[in-house]
Amino acid sequence: MFAVKTAPAGSRSELYSDLVAQARGLLEGERDFTANAANLSSLVYHTLPDLNWAGFYWMKGGELVLGPFQGKPACVRIALGRGVCGTAAQERRTIVVPDVDAFAGHIACDSASRSEVVVPIVHQGRVLGVLDVDSPTLRRFDGEDARGLEALVQVFLAGTDLP
Ligand code: SME
Repeated sequence: MFAVKTAPAGSRSELYSDLVAQARGLLEGERDFTANAANLSSLVYHTLPDLNWAGFYWMKGGELVLGPFQGKPACVRIALGRGVCGTAAQERRTIVVPDVDAFAGHIACDSASRSEVVVPIVHQGRVLGVLDVDSPTLRRFDGEDARGLEALVQVFLAGTDLP
């Protein structure tokens, strides 16, 4: 499922270490769940190149419900195990989708999306939701994006009062 794309040495790891540092700064002094999720979705959307959607879905009543995001209006409810988001939440693992058309069950919210990465947000054994990032470019994401976004989720979990 992973398609490793070569990038100039150091450039993307620097991008993610900078993103994580910016996220820490952005969340400093504020622990509100909605505010922090909203600001992080904006930070991701405006910092990472070549995205058309970045945001959160939260587990509510056994399904994922749309949370703060940047991009076009999206599907509101996703059942556990459905789509990339529901699969990442159910399997509690980050999923990189190099080509959304090749992922059986992919849910097309924005027809411009060509590739996607979804990181589950797990706290004390409980799945709180997912961070979903979409790109209009095929093979936009690889394992380095996955690790970088997972680090970002850890910043969110450490800096936020959780429900
Ligand atoms: N593509 C996702 C749905 C959410 S949107 O991309 C914002 C999925 O298959 O779960």
